[in-house]
Amino acid sequence: MRKKIVAGNWKMNNDLAHTESLISDLKKQKNTSVAEVMIAPTFTNLWMAFESLRQSDIEVIAQNMHFAESGAYTGEISAKMLKSIGVTTVILGHSERRAYFNETNELLAKKVDAALDNDMSVIYCFGEELSDRKSGKEEDVVKSQISEALFHLPKEAFKSIVLAYEPVWAIGTGETASPEQAQDMHAFIRKTLAEKYGEDVADSVSILYGGSVKPDNAKEIFSKPDVDGGLIGGASLKADDFFAIVNAF
Ligand code: PGA
Repeated sequence: MRKKIVAGNWKMNNDLAHTESLISDLKKQKNTSVAEVMIAPTFTNLWMAFESLRQSDIEVIAQNMHFAESGAYTGEISAKMLKSIGVTTVILGHSERRAYFNETNELLAKKVDAALDNDMSVIYCFGEELSDRKSGKEEDVVKSQISEALFHLPKEAFKSIVLAYEPVWAIGTGETASPEQAQDMHAFIRKTLAEKYGEDVADSVSILYGGSVKPDNAKEIFSKPDVDGGLIGGASLKADDFFAIVNAF
């Protein structure tokens, strides 16, 4: 059985006071689903969030990290630093990191290696832009985003990797891929994994969908056989909405 996961990516939202109040709202919610729940607050609030949710079944994860262990990388955070406060899962390759911070598949391969070398789990994000989809290149783009950052890895590494397909045209735009578009791409991703690593790996890796998932569309998206959960941006900033999505499973 593949893991079902709903992860909230808070992005650069919520200062300390907001983080405290959102976490206290989250603690009042009931998880009636089969999904594992994760939240990714900003770096300055990770420790507080981790401590506050220590006894809960909500995992606190990071939005990004650097590939180096330490050194002259002003403003960056390493895997060891995250691990030292108990954080063991990191989101890598989010489209906003790719678009605004020039993160390439090649750089992301190094970040993935660093996370795995430190026994962390990775939620690896990728997805095509609108122009790629309009020109029918979405599968080629997605295939290169996966293969260039991940296909140097041995089979066993995929025990620690979750994939998140997030079409850029659906992120924060209110546009959602239709459940069929999501299913088609997730099936393609699984086929791509199977060709490289075999059916057992392809069947065991969770593939999340991200891009304007909301309480009113989550159930239909999550009902698709190759969709194993969601990476939620905007709707993860309200406890009720986030748990309405979690409980859509
Ligand atoms: P959104 O963001 O749900 O606000 O579209 C998704 C994401 O960026 O992970």
